Amino acid sequence: ELYRELSGIVAMEQQLTNIFGIARVIIVPGDAEQDETVKQQLGKVAAQVLQQIAPAKAKIAVTGGSSVASMKEYLSDVPVLSDANFIAARGGMGDEMTFQANTIVSKFSKRCGATYRTLFLPEHLSEQAYEAMKDEPIIREMITLYEQVDIVIHGIGAAQEMALRRKSSQQEQQILEEKGAVAEAFGYYFNADGDIVHHLRTIGIQRHQVNKAQHVLAIAAGRNKAAAIQAYFKNAAPQTILITDEQTASTILKN
Ligand code: G3H
Repeated sequence: ELYRELSGIVAMEQQLTNIFGIARVIIVPGDAEQDETVKQQLGKVAAQVLQQIAPAKAKIAVTGGSSVASMKEYLSDVPVLSDANFIAARGGMGDEMTFQANTIVSKFSKRCGATYRTLFLPEHLSEQAYEAMKDEPIIREMITLYEQVDIVIHGIGAAQEMALRRKSSQQEQQILEEKGAVAEAFGYYFNADGDIVHHLRTIGIQRHQVNKAQHVLAIAAGRNKAAAIQAYFKNAAPQTILITDEQTASTILKN
């Protein structure tokens, strides 16, 4: 705690909390891009926060990504989490299996002795497939669950990098560029003003559902994400708690 005070981390946390107008910013010392252990620290802090904020029988929606996945080792079967339900916030990811929401919720729930819900769908659905699927009972049930979520845990990505990771078509990548997409979170792309400019047509948690969750935990760090984080928080849910690292925070504050 003394290090955090002396290094200016506490002051940066306060500054960013004010600039973003959110519930809280927590900064982990170091640079996750250079040092893998820093990413683990992000996960550790996120797991601690989750324990503090989770209500009984919490419904917790979880997106994919390596930052969110880093919480896994720090979750345990404390009473407050053992009756939680971890819900995959989206179907597929066109991304590495380890970092898909479906994989993550099953791992989290095992650590906590909790329950989980998965949703296996392609990341990109045609208009017809989407229309046909959204009335299926299993999908309806998932959508109802999203309406009742208490906590959302999500990562934030740089738009271009996420489009590549999702193997988006050339055409989609071009659309993103034209629309000035800077950030990505839970399937939405945002421009530098934090406005939604693109949304993947897939079954998953919707932005209005994120906005009405009691708590939102965002985990994101890396100098290459600084602009994305800045853009995303122009317009993010005010109940969000951001967990990031020292390098990212100072990059944002210098911009
Ligand atoms: O939506 C953003 C991504 O989930 C971020 O993924 O944590 O692996 O960078 P990452």
